[in-house]
Amino acid sequence: MEAMHEDIEKILYPEELIRSRVRELGEQLSRDYAGKTPIFIGILKGAIIFYADLLRECDLPVQLEFMAVSSYGSGTTSGKLVFKKDTDANLEGRDVVIVEDIIDSGNTLYLLREELSKRNPASIRIVALLDKAARRTADISADYVGFACADEFVVGYGLDFAEKYRNLPYIGVLKPHIYEKT
Ligand code: IMP
Ligand code: MG
Repeated sequence: MEAMHEDIEKILYPEELIRSRVRELGEQLSRDYAGKTPIFIGILKGAIIFYADLLRECDLPVQLEFMAVSSYGSGTTSGKLVFKKDTDANLEGRDVVIVEDIIDSGNTLYLLREELSKRNPASIRIVALLDKAARRTADISADYVGFACADEFVVGYGLDFAEKYRNLPYIGVLKPHIYEKT
């Protein structure tokens, strides 16, 4: 056992389960966007593993773009979005697919969708691997969801705790003493 794996209390979504669900999402997207050339915007850093796997399950001519954002404040319209990295792709008339790791409060995606709408895309849809619906405060939902997630802090498959555990191949919950150390 590697040191990283020893920090995990339990595995919620094993590798094989993620792989088969990502395949289903890819098939669904391939059907829904057939004949189109969507722009998939991956939200750094958390979505990167999901994004890379999802793309390879999509039988579509996809354009790859990335953004890094964070949100401050709460509520629906009062929050503020900070672009740590924007995309310079022209979204005008394009079908935009936002690929995110997890929707928690929903604030980040709410603000991001508002911002991207101003760039006049033909459509915007959201794909989220995990959906923590119980914690939603913003008026937003994903169009495609991998798994409904319980209100637990999860790591792995792109998701981090203090920038660690993103490279775990599964998604799990940390042992309590890991949080208590920081
Ligand atoms: P929101 O604006 O509250 O929806 O923030 C969502 C972001 O918070 C996600 O993109 C993640 O980066 C982070 N996040 C939320 N829940 C978790 C979790 O359980 N583990 C790791 N990161 C999380
Ligand atoms: Mg994120």
